[in-house]
Parts: sequence; structure tokens; C-alpha cells
Amino acid sequence: MYVCICNAITSRQLDAAIEGGAATLEQLQMDLGVAMGCGCCAEGVQQHLADALAARQAAPVPVAVAGLPTAGVTDPGAFTLTGRQSAAGVDGCSL
Ligand code: FES
Repeated sequence: MYVCICNAITSRQLDAAIEGGAATLEQLQMDLGVAMGCGCCAEGVQQHLADALAARQAAPVPVAVAGLPTAGVTDPGAFTLTGRQSAAGVDGCSL
């Protein structure tokens, strides 16, 4: 769906730029040229950005532990790590 008619920018392009690290309207303007014409899309772009960043923060962050398989794990919350934390890592952890 087009979010910026003046510059023919789609919501997918916004999502890709945000996924690539854009975190402000100004960065999206620099990356894509969005909201650089009449400006009437700026509020919608700002809302799209806020929603995308909020969704990213709400998403679970995968935790990689050396030596543990990560492929095929669909519910990382199902695992509980126990053990001692040391400067070298986690000792005696069990799943
Ligand atoms: S619609 Fe985006 S700048 Fe005009």
C-alpha cells in the first residue's frame, strides 16, 4: 500500500528501511525520500514507524547460548536456564 503518493513509497519499503535500522522520520526521509514532498503523509509515516518499533520491542529476543542448538526451537520461552553465571559464561546450566 502506498503511504507517500508524492514519492511512491509503500509500507513495505518503510518496513524494510525500519528493519534496516531507520528509527526516526528523518532517517526514513533520508533513506527513502518519504514525506519530502507535500508532507501530508508525515503523520501516517510517523505512526507506522512508532507501531513498527513498538512491535519490535514486544517481540521475543532469541537468546543464543554457546553449545546449545537453536535450529528448530519454536518456543524459546519453554526453556529455563539455571546455573551459575561467571565471567566465562553460565556454568552447570540445564534445560
Ligand atoms: S504524500 Fe508523502 S510527501 Fe506528499
